[in-house]
Amino acid sequence: MKLTVVGGGSTYTPELIDGFARLRDTLPVEELVLADPAADRLELVGGLARRILARQGHGARVVTTSDLDAAVEGADAVLLQLRVGGQAAREQDETWPLECGCVGQETTGAGGLAKALRTVPVVLDIAERVRRTNPDAWIIDFTNPVGIVTRALLQAGHRAVGLCNVAIGLQRKFAALLGVAPSDVHLDHVGLNHLTWETGVRLGGPEGEDVLPRLLAEHGDAVAADLRLPLPLLDRLGVVPSYYLRYYYAHDEVVGELRTKPSRAAEVAAMERELLAMYGDPALDEKPALLAKRGGAYYSEAAVDLAAALLGGAGSPHQVVNTYNRGTLPFLPDDAVIEVPAAVGAKGAAPLPVAPVDPLYAGLMANVTAYEDLALEAALRGGRERVFRALLAHPLVGQYAYADRLTDLLIAHNREHLAWA
Ligand code: G6P
Ligand code: MN
Repeated sequence: MKLTVVGGGSTYTPELIDGFARLRDTLPVEELVLADPAADRLELVGGLARRILARQGHGARVVTTSDLDAAVEGADAVLLQLRVGGQAAREQDETWPLECGCVGQETTGAGGLAKALRTVPVVLDIAERVRRTNPDAWIIDFTNPVGIVTRALLQAGHRAVGLCNVAIGLQRKFAALLGVAPSDVHLDHVGLNHLTWETGVRLGGPEGEDVLPRLLAEHGDAVAADLRLPLPLLDRLGVVPSYYLRYYYAHDEVVGELRTKPSRAAEVAAMERELLAMYGDPALDEKPALLAKRGGAYYSEAAVDLAAALLGGAGSPHQVVNTYNRGTLPFLPDDAVIEVPAAVGAKGAAPLPVAPVDPLYAGLMANVTAYEDLALEAALRGGRERVFRALLAHPLVGQYAYADRLTDLLIAHNREHLAWA
């Protein structure tokens, strides 16, 4: 089996390699290609990848290359984990929206739109190259914003599934709090990527007992502290929102914080410098503990499980992924991309039925779906007015004066990445 990681020079790659090594029975990889335009990073990351596999007695061959066509040729699955413009572009996304009192975040709000506009054309070009050589290859997209990017891929007819680690992270956290194995915890996870709620926490299987009320009663403090939301709010809602909902439910509080502290991009850039220096040490042959400070915890487990299921291996039959709605949430269009538990196999992902959704959450999902639709239009066709329309539709922008100003800022800060600007 050949797997290609586009954005393989990412500091996250050792996390993924560690997963491939530990979970080799689930996913028997023979050739692993790390593709990245940054040759210097690739050398450091590729070296560590080979040492991690060797230490664990894994026989996979690691190839590093900046030649994308060669990288994807013959691959059974292609994992996309790239970041157009790097942390420097992310830093901008996190900063200029604050000028209008709007959240500055890499996937939520105006910054997320900027990321979508930079990313969609690049990802579609890569997917086209994959299809040209291997029409049957699966594309697994971790590249943010995952909802919009996955929709772009599916709309263009690619064999793609979108993946995020929010659900697996909560599954692991809840399992630890409840004192059970992670595989015993099944989440009723519903929403769009980075806009999800856990409406049930079931033990033993998807039909098992719902212990969410007990989880909140006994461990509510820990859950609330993690999300940085007040416990009384969680008690009133009776569900667990993902931490991305804090950007909505505590928007102004977050903006206040963002104005006074260094950006996450700056923190991550500093961590990346440190990580790359470690990766260059020939004595290092495991993923360093510092990597756990990044947001992508458990992403390797989720990726291995998904690739294994899609490639007909031993992956779990039910996994939380991003795919077409197809009537699952009746208040959204069929071609909206939603993030829910799905049956995953060699034919792809099919959402499992979802219980009726409280209007309190359905309303926001519908609003953000409309924004994502307009964002994709803007990413595919360009133009100032399309950017404005997406921003005006976004629940965290909404006012025309802000949408106009943010449109100008977005274009000014991203001109080099936007073919039409
Ligand atoms: C979580 C999200 C990812 C996001 C990451 C950011 O893992 O699910 O989509 O990329 O956080 O983490 P970072 O360490 O870059 O802030
Ligand atoms: Mn994510």
